[in-house]
Amino acid sequence: MPNSAHTATAFANPNIAFIKYWGNRDEALRLPVNGSISMNLDGLFTKTSVSFNSSNYDSLTINNSTIKGKGLERVSAILDLVRAKAGMQAKAQVISENNFPAGAGIASSAAAFAALALAASKAAGLALSERELSILARRGSGSAARSIPAGFVEWQAGTNDEDSYAYSIAPAEHWDLADCVAVVNAAHKAVGSTEGHALAGTSLLQNARVADAPRRLEICRKAILQKDFEALANIIEQDSDMMHAVMMTSRPPLMYWQSATVEIFHRVRQWRGQGLPVAYTVDAGANVHVICLGEYKADVEKRLREVEGVSEVLVAGVGGAARTED
Ligand code: PMV
Repeated sequence: MPNSAHTATAFANPNIAFIKYWGNRDEALRLPVNGSISMNLDGLFTKTSVSFNSSNYDSLTINNSTIKGKGLERVSAILDLVRAKAGMQAKAQVISENNFPAGAGIASSAAAFAALALAASKAAGLALSERELSILARRGSGSAARSIPAGFVEWQAGTNDEDSYAYSIAPAEHWDLADCVAVVNAAHKAVGSTEGHALAGTSLLQNARVADAPRRLEICRKAILQKDFEALANIIEQDSDMMHAVMMTSRPPLMYWQSATVEIFHRVRQWRGQGLPVAYTVDAGANVHVICLGEYKADVEKRLREVEGVSEVLVAGVGGAARTED
């Protein structure tokens, strides 16, 4: 058994971006071309345990499957940063589990790298600040920087490794919102976001999207702070549509939407027109995150289940910060 002083377990929620991160100014450091804002998703989490031991190699298990190759390399790169900071050489065993169904289309990398950054640094005996943890998580997956702080979170783009990190702009209790995730069956496996970020600059629309980002960030931040749902709805739909316009006009083009994705856009707009506080946003996949005021979540879930092509609906509230088990 490894010495318990070299073992730690951490939990982190995934998050849904309201103002999206798409494109890096530095691919290796994952420094984004624009800032982003998200909400953590309560009830969905990744639990990760890290044990530094006397083995000759790092090992990784996700949901009871052994992972090798690229997945393990990406985890080892984060462990290397932790080892460098702690002045240690020991290899580690990483065991990770998601409580949300695999293939449900919830990007797990944000929760995964946030939980890994926290568990690995604690297991190595480091007591990193929230900012340092956010920077470390960012190196594994950009959006993971936003799963470290609590509630509603902004990731400032920054210009270098030290100033590109996320912080909370409002705690989870600030505003009772829900994310009803309509899982749409995708015919093809989507192109992953790491490859997608590298294509963003090939779209002629990306410069316009990035130049306008400060305006969208400001409107979104204000809508959250003032709990103005109508303003939030309009800006998150515009931001999501702008990112997908960039994706569709990249070379090669990325088309994530399915017919049901577009059908949900129309219904959400119609429902909002009828007075239901709902808005859509879509990440790098076909699933639609339908954001609503918490009190309407059961109604929204029911309506989404009736849409042809929707195989599952997951409902999450606003989540807290990444935390260790103790
Ligand atoms: O963190 P990554 O590399 O998986 O990128 C996330 C990209 C989007 O989910 C599409 C947008 C975002 O800001 O989360």
